[in-house]
Amino acid sequence: MASGPDKSGEGKQGKRALSTRLTHAARDRKLTQGGVNPVVQRASTVLVESASKLFEPGGWTYGRHGTATHAALKDALAEIENADHCAIVESGLLACTIPFIAFAQAGAHVLVGDNTYGPTRRFCDRTLSRWGCETEYFDTTIGAGIEALIRPTTKLIFLESPGSMTFEIADAPAIATAAKAKGVVTTMDNTWSGGVFHKPLSLGFDISVQANTKYVSGGADVLSGAIFANSEALFARLKETIADLGVNTSADDAYTVLRGARSLAMRMDRHQASAVEVARWLDAHPSIRRVLHPALESDPGHALWRRDFSGASGLFGIVLKSSETLQVHAFLDALELFGLGFSYGGFESLAIYCDPQLKRNLTKPAYGGPLIRLSIGLEDPADLIADLDQALKALD
Ligand SMILES: Cc1ncc(COP(=O)(O)O)c(C=O)c1O
Repeated sequence: MASGPDKSGEGKQGKRALSTRLTHAARDRKLTQGGVNPVVQRASTVLVESASKLFEPGGWTYGRHGTATHAALKDALAEIENADHCAIVESGLLACTIPFIAFAQAGAHVLVGDNTYGPTRRFCDRTLSRWGCETEYFDTTIGAGIEALIRPTTKLIFLESPGSMTFEIADAPAIATAAKAKGVVTTMDNTWSGGVFHKPLSLGFDISVQANTKYVSGGADVLSGAIFANSEALFARLKETIADLGVNTSADDAYTVLRGARSLAMRMDRHQASAVEVARWLDAHPSIRRVLHPALESDPGHALWRRDFSGASGLFGIVLKSSETLQVHAFLDALELFGLGFSYGGFESLAIYCDPQLKRNLTKPAYGGPLIRLSIGLEDPADLIADLDQALKALD
């Protein structure tokens, strides 16, 4: 579907399309041993070739530092975000929290978008606060106005655009520019776009994080996260933190994510096309008050989305006209093709009721009805529309 300028840019393999680069990434014979795929190298113990290599800087001396399978996955993921550096961790949430651990310290102040994913907020409120760091939430429509919130002690600005439940698009370049002028590190949770349709590092962000659990792996069968940066110094700090925490994904999980990532670009095109078709149909439905989808011209974030994104994923919100909880439950329970589940990005469509889990410190958005989030999977959109049509009758 029509979208903003192509931000796929140049990866390590030059100007080729992302689908081509993802097909050919991580195919070095050292990683594949002649197969098409990398080996699944399970290792804790690593045998070095000679005593002189035991303490070689940067040498691979222990399984926690990753194996050939991890190297292959990092290679491919770096292509998605046009990143110079990539680290893999066990979950998307860990990818979100590691930049805080790396850059905040006792007495520090961090700025976090008020629409940020609940568990990331919970980490700030529960754990970061115990370490003596202050979290201040900001309205993500703030743009360049973020400058007024930056203090001498501000160490990190964390943003999710669009918010994965309320779908506001932020002026990320303006926030990045203000942060850079004051030497504050910026991190973007880029999970909604799957990394395909949005390149935070190219828009001036220092760090991009991704829950591979969602679109990148695409199979709804693995938990994984990735952290991307271009600056060597920033990445060195992130890597130190990862080493200090002692985290590393299993080789089997790394393999599973890579297997999914090969088809990411094609899947995202399908998620996008189907979701826009379903969103437009819902927008015209008499039981729907509003659709929250940045690719719709009527959406408040549409202009910024056109400017900074090259497409939209399959995740968006709808506001029902009915306000009775029982009716909301009846609608959700009547769905046959949409499972009720707290994830997205997989091949299967999902729905959740958002209001009970919407956490805000500033203003809670007033939509005038219950907010439902839909994740549009790889089913035929006509079948999904038919399913929604019959389930919406439960609201009558
Ligand atoms: C925007 C966003 N960031 C991070 C995560 C965390 O990912 P994981 O479940 O892999 O920890 C999620 C999961 O739903 C998410 O929606």
